[in-house]
Amino acid sequence: MLKRPKIAIVGAGGAVGAAVAQWAAVKELGELALIDLKGNVAKGRGLDLTQCSPFESFNNAGFTAGEDPALMKGADVVVMTAGVPRKPGQSREELININAGIVRDICKNVKEQAPNAVLIVVSNPLDAMVYVAKQVTGFPRERVIGSAGILDSSRFRTNIALAVGASVEDVSAIVLGAHTDKDMVPVISTATVGGVPLTKLLSAEKLAEVIDATKKGGATLTGLIGTSAWLAPGAGTSLMVESIVRDQKRLLPCSIELQGEFGVKDCFVGVPVRLGLGGAEHVYEFELSASEKAAFESSVKANQELMGIAKGFL
Ligand code: 2OP
Repeated sequence: MLKRPKIAIVGAGGAVGAAVAQWAAVKELGELALIDLKGNVAKGRGLDLTQCSPFESFNNAGFTAGEDPALMKGADVVVMTAGVPRKPGQSREELININAGIVRDICKNVKEQAPNAVLIVVSNPLDAMVYVAKQVTGFPRERVIGSAGILDSSRFRTNIALAVGASVEDVSAIVLGAHTDKDMVPVISTATVGGVPLTKLLSAEKLAEVIDATKKGGATLTGLIGTSAWLAPGAGTSLMVESIVRDQKRLLPCSIELQGEFGVKDCFVGVPVRLGLGGAEHVYEFELSASEKAAFESSVKANQELMGIAKGFL
């Protein structure tokens, strides 16, 4: 019998998990299993969301919710948003001591309950948490990916559109590397607006401002809101889920374990990936400019250090 894909969201009581659930429900991506340590909050999130369905004409009646990890049984996609968010002034890296243990413990459940799932990690510090997830589940790299580059790229595209004064729809640009303020790599050399190279549209000074605003994107929002952002992180992650369950073959930047691509081995870092039913089906390599290459190498070093710290929690 045909069945809808099952999408488990762990941490669904939190803001990012709830945002992923909202986009996934509205797009009818599948049957949602909403899981949170606070089981009642997950149930409440599911009910609240489902009560939007008469307004927006989607069907979310099949959702399940609670604290029991068995709710993720047989999931096709598991989205991991569990962990604590950043506070104003805090870096993502500072969350490692709390979040590594949380992600580790939940990944044991993922391995047991959903051994064939594609696991999308959203918890921070992102690249190190994807490493923890890969080590604990033992899943092939195609099925353990991190959601961050898609968010950073959306911030980059938005900042470019604002600086150029053009529609964001025509902005094509990606952010690679680490999901950290210091080391992410907004790629200028391939960025275009309506097919015109970005370098022809903005001065060096403006380009530097766009890069700076993009790298600080998450910190700026954390300062304004008092906790980390959730709408764009949720929307971006649900786009990854959509590309997987609908086999759309979108090319999106995701954190994945490199196995020789970009000259890097055994390190998790953001690169362009094709997402389809098999998860991360292909990693695409291309030539970066000299300064982008140096920044990418710094990203790799920074992530290797974080992975070294995370290793202590395995
Ligand atoms: C952000 O950059 C939460 O890491 C996420 O907003």
